[in-house]
Amino acid sequence: MGEVDNPRWNTAWITGASSGIGLELARKMVGRTRHIAVSARSQDKLNALAEESQSIRSYPLDVTDADAVDETLTKIQADCGVVDLVVLNAAAWSAMEMKAFDLDAVRKGIEVNYLGVMNGLHAVLPSMLALGQGHIAIVASTAGYRGLPQSAAYGPTKAALINLAETMRIELAPLGIKVSLICPGFVDTPATQKNQFSMPGIISASEAARAIVSGLEKGQYDIAFPWLFARVMKLLRIIPIGLYFWLVRTFVWRNPTG
Ligand SMILES: NC(=O)c1ccc[n+]([C@@H]2O[C@H](COP(=O)([O-])OP(=O)(O)OC[C@H]3O[C@@H](n4cnc5c(N)ncnc54)[C@H](OP(=O)(O)O)[C@@H]3O)[C@@H](O)[C@H]2O)c1
Repeated sequence: MGEVDNPRWNTAWITGASSGIGLELARKMVGRTRHIAVSARSQDKLNALAEESQSIRSYPLDVTDADAVDETLTKIQADCGVVDLVVLNAAAWSAMEMKAFDLDAVRKGIEVNYLGVMNGLHAVLPSMLALGQGHIAIVASTAGYRGLPQSAAYGPTKAALINLAETMRIELAPLGIKVSLICPGFVDTPATQKNQFSMPGIISASEAARAIVSGLEKGQYDIAFPWLFARVMKLLRIIPIGLYFWLVRTFVWRNPTG
């Protein structure tokens, strides 16, 4: 899709756009929004992405640096006008078993996945509130629905984002700001390519980006995919805790290593 006369958004800002889901999402947004501002730490990858379309511009950034996040938004709005869609997608994933507890991995998860999103909100909220419009999308995970093995440095940060998005939806909708909560299942990206365990229902980053664009265009709050996997994960969220533990022990965490 090329340039369009009547884009849905003026400027979409996507964090974590140097690889995986964020990269494919930036590509799919071409033609749907006048400007696409892409951020991550890898400047070379962002520059290569920006070469693909005149609508894509690179804004390198570490989301853990709150001042840098604020300054980046100011730069984007000076270059591209108002940011009316932000997709807070940057995150760090690492498998961690409780028996190999790694405080650095836990801190990194909180800093990037949770506080990184908070830094993004701190930057975009004032202008969206002043205008009484905008769309904020938070990328969490189906791994945030319930506690999962090997997920102690990651799942709790995504559970926190799911909780946060509910508060945001309740408070911001009456003020004219849309909120979307994006919960992918397994997606084939550099993050998951290092996983040693089986990933049921895994889809490509391009398929994930298509599902996200479709949900954002419809203004959906709950964008969870792939459909069947997300439904199963949602069902696991509401079954009794004893049954949940039994299912995980029986089908997922049968033979823990060591
Ligand atoms: N893949 C899956 O199966 C899956 C499932 C559920 C949810 N998700 C979520 O989907 C989102 C995208 O994940 P992905 O699978 O596409 O992973 P990915 O390929 O590893 O991409 C992660 C992105 O975040 C950026 N990033 C990491 N730390 C950053 C920092 N401190 N500051 C700025 N950017 C940073 C990375 O770029 P730099 O390294 O260049 O900074 C990269 O662009 C994440 O929120 C993830 O939790 C993924």
